[in-house]
Amino acid sequence: MIDVVVVQRRNRLSSTWVKEQLALLAKEEQSRLLMYRRWQDQQSSLIGRVLAKTKLSQLLNVPRESLQISKDEHGRLYLENHPFWGGDFNLSHSSDLIACAITKNGRVGIDVEYIKYLDFDLARQFLNEDEIQYAKKKHDDMLISFLYKIWTLKEAYLKALGIGLLRDPRSFGFDMKLWSEGILKIRDDKSLFKEEMFFHTLVLHGGYQLALCTNAATPVNISTFMNISNSTRQTSQILTQFC
Ligand SMILES: CC(C)(COP(=O)(O)OP(=O)(O)OC[C@H]1O[C@@H](n2cnc3c(N)ncnc32)[C@H](O)[C@@H]1OP(=O)(O)O)[C@@H](O)C(=O)NCCC(=O)NCCS
Repeated sequence: MIDVVVVQRRNRLSSTWVKEQLALLAKEEQSRLLMYRRWQDQQSSLIGRVLAKTKLSQLLNVPRESLQISKDEHGRLYLENHPFWGGDFNLSHSSDLIACAITKNGRVGIDVEYIKYLDFDLARQFLNEDEIQYAKKKHDDMLISFLYKIWTLKEAYLKALGIGLLRDPRSFGFDMKLWSEGILKIRDDKSLFKEEMFFHTLVLHGGYQLALCTNAATPVNISTFMNISNSTRQTSQILTQFC
């Protein structure tokens, strides 16, 4: 089972809660989060880590406070000091939405994007030739919906691989014939994974596109907590107990 937790932070969260949660992070992570210029980005990153730790502590049956999360050389988060943990987690945030995906087995990548207008010239920077030809047959809302779907799916794939910007998203792509039949199959000659990659995609309430990529053939369970307020108690309960 892959668990996906989605949280929408409507307001600025209380500074008491933020301070408490920052103090539970490794020093390096604290410094990184304190460097954000916008409080929105800082709080989204922080909430992501709190969600990941909450889910990890439930899966590993250890206290949340005992878990340490660090970043690898490509910016991907991983769990420290649990060499036998065969699972994975990944975070994404866009506007006021934060998503965390976690699996007990295999790898996972997640991406969320707030859907707005997207210029086709920008799309050319992440679509390969087959995908461009497919997109050209779409217009208006159908085009935007296609572009966000494929963008987030490709990003989720890159995040599952963990290499981020090192791969040009035009160097791999979806089989567009299968896509038109509703089947999501990636074609990538240079894939790091020998096994098949599985994709899930969903439009969330509020106009967000979510995509998930994993190498585990397992169901996905999505929990959403919208409109998190700035009450310390409510925030704390939702993010550290109910997820
Ligand atoms: C880091 C990257 C992977 C995600 O960027 P993004 O969409 O701006 O951001 P998201 O909100 O979805 O994800 C951010 C989270 O991804 C995680 N992340 C960072 N680098 C990562 C990597 N190499 N692999 C997996 N996850 C990564 C981090 O946890 C980060 O959150 P944090 O900063 O709070 O720790 C991005 O910079 C990137 O390389 N994108 C792919 C390249 C591209 O051109 N995409 C266009 C469409 S395919």
